[in-house]
Amino acid sequence: MSRAALLTLAWLLVVGCGGRQLVSTAAEAVGELSGWQAWALAGGSATVFDDSPNAYALALRTLDPASRRGFAVGNAFFNDNWVAAPASTLGRDGLGPLFNAPSCSTCHLRDGRSRMPSGPERTLQTAVILLSVPGADGQTLVPHPVYGEQLQPKALPGIPAEVDPRVSWLEQAGQFDDGSPFSLRSPQLQLRSLGYGPLPAQARLSLRVAPAVFGLGLLEAVPKQDIIAWADPEDRNQDGISGRPRQLWDHSTGQQRLGRFGWKARNASLRQQAAGAFSEDIGISSPLHPREVPTAAQELAMQAASGGSPEVDDHKLDRVALYLKGLAVPARKVADLEQLEAGSELFAALGCAACHRPSMRTRSDAEPAALADQLIWPYTDLLLHDMGEGLADHKPSGNASGREWRTPPLWGLRLLPVVSGHEQLLHDGRARNVEEAILWHGGEAEAAQRAYRALPAADRTTLLAFLRQL
Ligand code: HEC
Ligand code: HEC
Repeated sequence: MSRAALLTLAWLLVVGCGGRQLVSTAAEAVGELSGWQAWALAGGSATVFDDSPNAYALALRTLDPASRRGFAVGNAFFNDNWVAAPASTLGRDGLGPLFNAPSCSTCHLRDGRSRMPSGPERTLQTAVILLSVPGADGQTLVPHPVYGEQLQPKALPGIPAEVDPRVSWLEQAGQFDDGSPFSLRSPQLQLRSLGYGPLPAQARLSLRVAPAVFGLGLLEAVPKQDIIAWADPEDRNQDGISGRPRQLWDHSTGQQRLGRFGWKARNASLRQQAAGAFSEDIGISSPLHPREVPTAAQELAMQAASGGSPEVDDHKLDRVALYLKGLAVPARKVADLEQLEAGSELFAALGCAACHRPSMRTRSDAEPAALADQLIWPYTDLLLHDMGEGLADHKPSGNASGREWRTPPLWGLRLLPVVSGHEQLLHDGRARNVEEAILWHGGEAEAAQRAYRALPAADRTTLLAFLRQL
């Protein structure tokens, strides 16, 4: 049988059979075929087949019934708006007093990625601005004594909001090696109406869009030792690419943990990420963040009614974490097999795959069981890489420098315009499409970016077409 026929067979097996049993049979069959034939199942045997705007919002196909119920509860807590306390909607009050948005889904709409405003006419709402200032020693960066670690542009009535942030875009022209022109834009932040006094000139700001949140349970289940083994901090193999694990200190256990989530991998687990988001983004306290976010200097805000202490308990936090774990990865789709094959070869030849690692396996003891022992195709190594001056935010975070970012997964890229209505990429949404994202690559990825710019136009098209089939 030809490769194309095998591929079609695998695709039909998976798409054609609704039942779980058949899906895993197909997955095994595809597993044996290896390489190209395993193409569709980006998220292992729990991959979902849906090209609608709902494509990022579906549960793992193989999720057990009990986890499915928890997923549904978590789904509601993710999508429904929180309200000010006290309120009759018990269990969902405690919003603010300072906050960015009333729900997780305000930013992660349909579990997708947030959109940057096209210009300074509109307030920046669904991205966040992280903040730090030099501490007493003039060196170490610490949260701002009044504004904290993140600016909150919203506040309950009667309480001053921290800021009205706006973004304008600076265009800069560039050229491919064949002389054809391109233009890249970068954001210029304006902090209007600072509610609690001016910021010092040395303040470091980091603008970040909300990434899509599907498939993260699988990434949480990739063995830590595998990720650490991919790192090459001293660049021993001399490919110009190092890659460093993000290290976190867990105060509760006194152990080192590996950071995986967020643009600089500042969270080790989905539970921790969710608790941080409740606290900083929505103003909801939890057992992991028992204190309200306003700093002591924000007196009025401190007097606001609380929705309970904590406002979201362990049980709810677990459900939200389960929801995040349970969001499945949409299948890859072949539009043109030859282009796909050629594009994949270019992806490897240009060095993209050195960081955007195509495939890996999850742990066999991962929970829920649907996440265990899966061959997945996320196109990330979950490591930090120096991406050069162009992308730097100059705001180190733990052991991540001001030039380092965690390689983002590329799975599901083909559906981003369908789910989120745009193709904006990179940590601050500056890239308007996949090509602009590549053109911004610098630092360890400078060689890959230059190699892309040197390609004949037809090969550039082939590579982009490959990425848009993921
Ligand atoms: C104001 C917009 C906003 C809201 C509201 C918000 N997030 Fe996020 N979310 C972000 C941003 C920005 C990031 C990236 C943060 C970083 O780089 O550290 C992020 C990152 C994440 C990630 C990590 C994704 C990855 O690929 O590493 C998860 C998971 C997540 N958010 C879940 C949640 C949950 C759960 C809630 C509600 C409790 C929530 N978010 C509310 C903006 C938001
Ligand atoms: C040295 C590691 C490295 C190499 C090599 C590399 N990338 Fe990346 N890539 C990254 C990191 C890190 C980011 C995130 C940067 C940011 O957001 O500022 C990224 C972002 C992206 C994005 C946007 C993803 C998103 O979710 O916003 C795309 C698309 C992408 N890379 C494609 C490629 C392609 C194609 C190549 C080869 C030409 C390549 N990358 C080479 C590390 C790398």
